[in-house]
Amino acid sequence: MLQPRYPDEVSNNATGVSMGINELVNWKPPADAAQLKVAEPFKIKSVEPVCQTTRAHRKRVLRGAKYNLFNISSRDILLDFLTDSGTGAMSQAQWAALQQGDESYAGSVSFDLLRDTVRDLFGFKHVLPSHQGRSAELVLMSHFISKKGLVVPGNLHFDTTGAHIEFQGGVIREFPDRRIVDLDDLSLFKGNMDLESFAPYVKKNHRNIPLVVLTATCNSGGGQPVSLANVAAVGKICRKYRIPLFVDSARIIENAYFIKTYEPGQSRKSIRTILREFLSHTDGAMMSAKKDGLVNIGGFIATNNEDYFDSFRRYTILFDGFVTYGGLAGRDLAAIAVGLREAIDLGYLKHRVSQAAYLATSLWKAGVRMVMPPGGHAVYVDARAFCPHIPVRQYPGHAIAVALYLESGIRGCEIGTLLRGRDPRTGRDRTKGLDLLRLAIPRRVYSYNQLDYAIDAILRLKKKAHTIRGVKFVRESPFLRHFTSEFALI
Ligand code: F0G
Repeated sequence: MLQPRYPDEVSNNATGVSMGINELVNWKPPADAAQLKVAEPFKIKSVEPVCQTTRAHRKRVLRGAKYNLFNISSRDILLDFLTDSGTGAMSQAQWAALQQGDESYAGSVSFDLLRDTVRDLFGFKHVLPSHQGRSAELVLMSHFISKKGLVVPGNLHFDTTGAHIEFQGGVIREFPDRRIVDLDDLSLFKGNMDLESFAPYVKKNHRNIPLVVLTATCNSGGGQPVSLANVAAVGKICRKYRIPLFVDSARIIENAYFIKTYEPGQSRKSIRTILREFLSHTDGAMMSAKKDGLVNIGGFIATNNEDYFDSFRRYTILFDGFVTYGGLAGRDLAAIAVGLREAIDLGYLKHRVSQAAYLATSLWKAGVRMVMPPGGHAVYVDARAFCPHIPVRQYPGHAIAVALYLESGIRGCEIGTLLRGRDPRTGRDRTKGLDLLRLAIPRRVYSYNQLDYAIDAILRLKKKAHTIRGVKFVRESPFLRHFTSEFALI
């Protein structure tokens, strides 16, 4: 298998001052965002055309889509930053692995390949495939939440994790690092669990906690990483009270890269060593392989615990299929196995993380307020600062996403009041928290030229931000409303 490798010196020079320096506690912006550019560690073999559209056409498209960007056909999108999930480009080695996929119902050789890869990289003996991240969450929560009212703490749960906790009658309790809401705080590892509040909470309530979930990187907190020191401390607390700790590992390889780059004493370790050390403090992991697995579909659960495995197996068979395929085709299992190996490659990771850093830093230096330091997979623009004239209940993040599409054909999505939905007790919008526009970068898909186009479009839009109109519901869906509701401009 051909693995592109870049010598460390090249990448370190190219990434400028901020990468590869371990003693930093704060992220230090480079003098020029261009220093963050890293040459692509791949070349393009197959291309997919994207559509240029006119402003008049996009205006019609928006009207037809009822101002919900999820309703727009990808035919009408120039750059799609809606998500980095399942949208990456597979390598020639992955396409070759697909051809060799073993489609046996039981005992697929492709499963063996995946299991052995996960054993090697994650250090867990038992591996259960799952058709994507949320089905792994369903298995996990079905096992752990045995009665109503049990509490599942975390740094910040991803939406589907939270939804599955509540679906089983559980309660979400989050302990994000306090710095995470301070967009101007440039400290690293803002994805950490806040130990000061987490430890006393667990001490008092441990009998009511069936499971702790740590999400690395923390998507809902701007893709910020969790440090090795933090997972070790969380693990210690969980072990003391005999509470299982699982890691939502969708972007754990990007997280390991942040540890290698920024955490004191870690720079000489390989990504594999860091992954294994990180997970050694935990009881297991669930993963949406659509992110760091570099595939378009798939996921898995991994653990060393025989009892959990025995119980998870039953749920997997019930929800997803037999334990050696878990809702996936054999070829998908093979593609994940190859994808995981490619994702730990330093050349790949430098390019990957640098793209988000380049996009974020370019906008930030031009005066766009956003979640900083740059996370691994996306940039998160502060919508309230971008459009201070739009009241929170007119969903500024969504309003900007609509305006950006009209301006440029770029699709992003709102992470804020619209996504959080209504408080079931009061029926009112949950306005507490940030209102953000997320631009998530698919893996190995877009060039720096395309990122430059996005930067220009956003800066153009910033100049006329006062003309952006808020949005209101025409039809509001009762839950997960951002996907299916219809809107009008105010
Ligand atoms: N956990 C995290 C941290 C995620 O970001 C996601 C999905 C999931 C779990 C669920 O995985 O989609 O395979 O079922 N995040 C996507 C996103 C959808 O756009 O951030 P899934």
